[in-house]
Amino acid sequence: MITDKFNPKNLLAIETSCDETAAAVLRDGRQLMSNVVASQVHIHKEYGGIVPELASRHHLEDIVRVVEKALLDANTDRSAIDAIAVTQGPGLVGSLVVGLSFAKALAMARGIPLTGVNHLHAHLSSVFLCEHPPLFPFVGLVVSGGHTNLYVVNDFLSAELLGQTRDDAAGEAFDKVAKMLELEYPGGPIISQLAEKGDPCAFSYPRAKLPKTPFDFSFSGLKTSVLTSVKKLSGQGPLPVQDICASFQEAVVDVLVEKTLSAAKNYDINRIAVTGGVATNSRLRARMAEETKKLGYKAFFPYPELCTDNAAMVALTGYHQIKAGILAKEDADVYSRLPLLSI
Ligand code: KG4
Ligand code: ZN
Repeated sequence: MITDKFNPKNLLAIETSCDETAAAVLRDGRQLMSNVVASQVHIHKEYGGIVPELASRHHLEDIVRVVEKALLDANTDRSAIDAIAVTQGPGLVGSLVVGLSFAKALAMARGIPLTGVNHLHAHLSSVFLCEHPPLFPFVGLVVSGGHTNLYVVNDFLSAELLGQTRDDAAGEAFDKVAKMLELEYPGGPIISQLAEKGDPCAFSYPRAKLPKTPFDFSFSGLKTSVLTSVKKLSGQGPLPVQDICASFQEAVVDVLVEKTLSAAKNYDINRIAVTGGVATNSRLRARMAEETKKLGYKAFFPYPELCTDNAAMVALTGYHQIKAGILAKEDADVYSRLPLLSI
């Protein structure tokens, strides 16, 4: 495998960390030529959450056609691809293995460089695919189904972790509250839709401050509090689902906005990027934009389709890694958890 620094012209990226099989082609590190996502949500919906065994089997079924479609949409073929980036972790091991094995095989067969990408790093990079991306440094929030991490992002390849969730991730809290309310999986989109018609002040759910580690998050107390109110209200007529959704969402948004802005003030950085699946939430986007504006700061959000899992963000991170000569070894393995706290 090539080990020198190299500037890829047509980079193919693959993402299979969770329940989306995705591939993208990035030209010259700037131009997104294709971005294909095959979601398995309809399969896992039936079970109220992701079934890892089913996820890996479906990645295996889908990966060839997803990659072929990404090449076709980019009006190119395998012979023109000169580098590959693949999500190496964190995520579901069985799912990650499918993407990494496919990427390794293709890279070896073609004799082209391969780089392994950290999924959270990729989420942070999704903001560079905005029309007007932020300058460095910026405060980056990754808020997804598995993580709620706050970083100072210094450049394309380095980010310092300021804090993370101690229990549930914000997206996980949305998914669990949806389950309590017998709503479908994933919970985020449906809760945010119902919240639009509810009163965010109907229930005063807790906002965990964690004064000793102010940039850490905790959503388990909030989740328990919602469960308590659901139990209390059950049997007393129809549940005020819209009010519960609005009050729960407001509590999550308050915490995310407050902690992110407090980190920005603390580090004297006036640019904030919000990434990950929960960053599609319209209330979070509106509140973050409004509160940053009040302080004279600026909030950056990737396009909604680049907030949820995709391979375009993997391509961008991978491009900078390959340019810097950061390549995967032939015996590279996947990792389910983050090996390093900072990137
Ligand atoms: O980033 P992502 O696609 O996958 C992970 O890396 O986890 O995030 C998925 C998470 C799910 O928990 C889902 O409920 C949440 O993002 N989500 C939302 C919204 N859309 C997706 N949460 C709140 N509001 C939304 N509109
Ligand atoms: Zn993700």
